Amino acid sequence: MTTILRDWSYRYQWFYDTVSALAALSVGGERRFRRLFLKDLTINPESKVLDLCCGAGQATQELVNHFQDVTGLDASPIAIKRARQNVPQAKYVEAFAEKMPFSDRTFDLIITNTAMHEMDLEQLQQIIQEVHRVLTSNGQFIIIDFHRPTNPFFWLPVATFLWLFETDTAWKLIGTDLKALLSKSGFKIESCQLYAGGSLQVLRSRV
Ligand SMILES: C[S@@+](CC[C@H](N)C(=O)[O-])C[C@H]1O[C@@H](n2cnc3c(N)ncnc32)[C@H](O)[C@@H]1O
Repeated sequence: MTTILRDWSYRYQWFYDTVSALAALSVGGERRFRRLFLKDLTINPESKVLDLCCGAGQATQELVNHFQDVTGLDASPIAIKRARQNVPQAKYVEAFAEKMPFSDRTFDLIITNTAMHEMDLEQLQQIIQEVHRVLTSNGQFIIIDFHRPTNPFFWLPVATFLWLFETDTAWKLIGTDLKALLSKSGFKIESCQLYAGGSLQVLRSRV
């Protein structure tokens, strides 16, 4: 179940950005939200980095501030066009995350920001296997996405957000044990930090 607002958020970038900025208030604002992945991250500017499901380049923008070789991948040609305009410092590839056009062991770091909740379980499993394939040995995978709230006061705002903007895959994600899926595909879990009453997770794993 979703509403027309989901369609608008994909159609109008200003609307997506406004909703995203409002939602980010729950973790202290957009700037903090976009920098959550940096916590505990050892930055080697020469690392090859992939922003998986990059959208219009919102996370890519932060990545190019720290890394020289950043690629954004998204299945939507409109998203790729916007990302190219917004963050020209990165390279872009229009492709499905389930079947990435990259050789084995291409990237040192892969980040996916608020996109895995759009996938059904089968897609999620395929994507995790693909990420494992294209990461270098010891490469790192960071997932930033919804999580089942641990603070009961966050259930109402989260449920309202999911009802207005998301589909059933987001509800399924918060009921999915992502750590177990990653472990099954050969990842070692490094940490899982929760924010916004537990409704947002930053899950770090390594090949
Ligand atoms: C909610 S947006 C997140 C965008 C961006 N990462 C951000 O931080 O705002 C989800 C993105 O995932 C992309 N996407 C959805 N399914 C995909 C798939 N199977 N393969 C690649 N991209 C996909 C959509 O086109 C969309 O741009």
